[in-house]
Amino acid sequence: MSQPLAPLGQEARRAVRWAVGHGLPAALLRRAARQGDLQGLMVTRTAGSLEAPYPLATAIREAGPLHRARYAWTTADHAVVKEVLSHPDLRSGFPRPQRDRVQRLALWAEEPRRLGPLSPPSLLVTDGPDHARYRRLVTRVFSVRAVEALRARTQEVADALVADLPRHVGPDGTVDLVEAYCSPLPVTVICEILGVPASERERVAAFGQAAAPSLDLGLSYRQARRVEDALEDFRTWLVAHLEHLRAHPGDDLMSRLVAARDDETGDGLSTDELLATAGLVLAAGFETTANLLSNGLVLLLEHPDQRARLAREPSLWPNAVDEVLRYDPPVLLTGRTPAVDTEVAGRRVRVGEMVAAVLAGANRDPAVFTDPDVFDVARENAREHLSFSGGRHFCLGAALARMEGEVGLRTLLDAFPDLALGSGETRAARRPTRILRGWAVLPAHLVPSTVSAPAVRSRP
Ligand code: HEM
Repeated sequence: MSQPLAPLGQEARRAVRWAVGHGLPAALLRRAARQGDLQGLMVTRTAGSLEAPYPLATAIREAGPLHRARYAWTTADHAVVKEVLSHPDLRSGFPRPQRDRVQRLALWAEEPRRLGPLSPPSLLVTDGPDHARYRRLVTRVFSVRAVEALRARTQEVADALVADLPRHVGPDGTVDLVEAYCSPLPVTVICEILGVPASERERVAAFGQAAAPSLDLGLSYRQARRVEDALEDFRTWLVAHLEHLRAHPGDDLMSRLVAARDDETGDGLSTDELLATAGLVLAAGFETTANLLSNGLVLLLEHPDQRARLAREPSLWPNAVDEVLRYDPPVLLTGRTPAVDTEVAGRRVRVGEMVAAVLAGANRDPAVFTDPDVFDVARENAREHLSFSGGRHFCLGAALARMEGEVGLRTLLDAFPDLALGSGETRAARRPTRILRGWAVLPAHLVPSTVSAPAVRSRP
């Protein structure tokens, strides 16, 4: 009798996890959104209103520096977003349910602990001394110097993908740049960081793709199940991979992380911490960078004057990547919750409440950025954007993402001076994710469309 009960127990835990993490909050936020609640509208935007984050962010900023929405405090004010991200009393992650019964149920459903960007000991949801120790070790491995050492290799990867693009031209004369360029570039780089052999790259990319919606609130039960199953398969694969790296270390960053020891304590990362880091690097670093590339391509193709300026002044490229990150960031918002009752922007914020920091809104704050809705690759203070968050959780992969953004965008645009977005039937489409923002498909003509036909005919 006990055999069938075990999976049944797991399924019950899964259902509770989904209800607490997705079903219930999404239903409440959707109802609030229908009544015009700004935070509800921001978090539950449907595919039809995906374009709305910027007007919404403006509305949030105009409602006050820290606006009390139905279920959360919310801010799109640059100074307050910065204060929230570096506030000593605010922690990352979601507030625990306040009622004892619900809290016990939620804790029960979380067992056994699973791998995921929002599950401890992922850096994203760890705070205090553990986070500091853990971050010290990981930062050393992902230093700007270590990343610069990857630049030459990233250039090779970009060159090879560009050379291969004509083979991907479809019958309509366009190439989907997301599939053929924006995704494979960061996937290849991250696989090399993780020491993944080329033969297993596609498998790891598939894990990453399946796990990407894990940052979104309000997944359907089926979607949430698919994400959990993908993360579980990834964990199984990763345990074996880390064993392999321990026995046969390579020249990759993950092998270095496996061997890294803290100068103060002499300890390395535990297996759980290594698993969480590798999982996070994959989940946080692949989809986000693909989004940076696709958002950047669309912006530069839609602003030919800015593209021409980069051709004349290539030294502006690093700044252009920051302007892309400011103008259309891959991560729209993040959240914090107080560890003790505290004060934020002069307002009392209590334990159990949530503070949503709209990074994309802070990036358009006119108090910091002149003409914030203008895309300007030479903007002097573009780097003041908050797209990589701030404070203790400032993105660990920022240097890597900036380097990949620069190499990726520049290589493609230099190789195809006539690159143009598809139109009509072959139009670009946004990803349906709400917290992460990027393009799902980006059909483009590599050469003026009249001469693209021979490439189609010569395709095998
Ligand atoms: C354009 C690309 C990227 C963007 C926009 C981005 C954005 C972010 C943001 C907003 C956070 C903090 C979230 C919060 O404060 O709650 C974060 C954290 C993080 N990111 Fe990135 N990221 C990008 C690329 C990468 C890459 C390539 C890696 C791979 C190394 C990476 C690894 C991480 C890690 C490990 C953290 C957690 C840091 C901590 O909590 O201490 N990210 N990222």
